[in-house]
Amino acid sequence: MRATPSPTAHAPAAPAASVAPYVTEVVLPGVVEPEGLTVRRRQLPAPGPGPGEVLLAMEATGVSFAEQQMRRGKYFDQPPFPFVPGYDLVGRVAATGPGTDPGLVGGRFAALTKTGGWASHTVVPAADLVPVPESVASADAETLVVNGVTAWQMLHRTAQVRAGDTVVVLGANGGVGSTLVQLARVAGARVLGTASPRHHDALRRLGVTPVDHRDPELYARLRGLAPDGVRAVFDHVGGEGVVESFRLLAPGGTLVSYGTASTRDVAGSSKAPVLKLFARLALWNALPNSRSAHFYNIWAGRRRPDAFRARLRADLGEVFALLADGGLTPQVAARVPLSRAAEALRLAESGTVTGKVVLVPDGGDAAGGHQRP
Ligand SMILES: NC(=O)c1ccc[n+]([C@@H]2O[C@H](COP(=O)([O-])OP(=O)(O)OC[C@H]3O[C@@H](n4cnc5c(N)ncnc54)[C@H](OP(=O)(O)O)[C@@H]3O)[C@@H](O)[C@H]2O)c1
Repeated sequence: MRATPSPTAHAPAAPAASVAPYVTEVVLPGVVEPEGLTVRRRQLPAPGPGPGEVLLAMEATGVSFAEQQMRRGKYFDQPPFPFVPGYDLVGRVAATGPGTDPGLVGGRFAALTKTGGWASHTVVPAADLVPVPESVASADAETLVVNGVTAWQMLHRTAQVRAGDTVVVLGANGGVGSTLVQLARVAGARVLGTASPRHHDALRRLGVTPVDHRDPELYARLRGLAPDGVRAVFDHVGGEGVVESFRLLAPGGTLVSYGTASTRDVAGSSKAPVLKLFARLALWNALPNSRSAHFYNIWAGRRRPDAFRARLRADLGEVFALLADGGLTPQVAARVPLSRAAEALRLAESGTVTGKVVLVPDGGDAAGGHQRP
């Protein structure tokens, strides 16, 4: 990863003495290997956060599948290069903009950003902040921001899983997957989870019945474990396998499709696989088969910002409360200093991790190398 000079190196000083005058941020310059990420250090531009905004000093951010797609130019809603990636973060408010409650300064919050989180400081709308319980470590909370909202909403809002249901979670070792299986267990469901065998012991410890996701007989094995069909299948893989996922459902069951991970490395349009999936789901819903198929999108409903934020705050609040009570075990795959984001991205893509690779500020606990928890 290369350090680049900042285009804004001569920007005026930060607005408040308590605000760090410099920001360190990781830039994705184009379609690159992880080592092509650059680290930029620049002065915070004046006048700081605008009306209704806060400046968050990052305590933890993380690597999501979205960044793996974005570095290939394959994210459905691909931002134009160059940009600072980072889907979510946990941080403390370092400064507030005009009209923003100054009492927020010093408070610790989570925010969903889609991009921009891989920075020591990030400006976000105050309305997007979700409080993090003080008893919870920032890295632990970070594993549950985008992952917690996604898992909670798919489980409780989309599929409405209940105690006694059997569900299938594909990619049960991933960031979303390892959260989803825990929330499903908390809800009293039986969970069949797919992952490579190296993750099976970890999944068993979470109460999951693991199945090898590369087994050519994967779907036959899942049918053998649930001969009457299952209440819900959570499928982030997409492609042709989604047909098999739909066939696993019992009458009244729900397929929750939420990604097309299998096409990450396939050349061509980033939108085509998703649009094909939408068409397939619509067809299944139109046919009289007593099963339903949904595509979950965390950003759905954003055009009504107040309702969207209220829902996100309520759902993430439930997840954080479970974390604080010990009902969820945070799956921190590793802590890596921000300036070594390339290593973090490589690690996240290695197929060896359970949970989420977390980025922490340079000079923090993880400085000097990435640490498995
Ligand atoms: N729709 C939404 O709103 C929404 C929101 C959040 C996330 N997502 C989706 O959720 C999924 C998981 O995200 P994450 O951040 O949790 O990712 P992650 O932590 O990197 O986990 C990815 C999981 O997918 C598996 N995987 C990777 N490449 C795959 C492939 N080609 N085929 C099948 N499985 C593959 C991984 O298995 P190995 O570890 O064995 O490689 C791992 O279990 C992604 O598809 C992402 O796009 C969707």
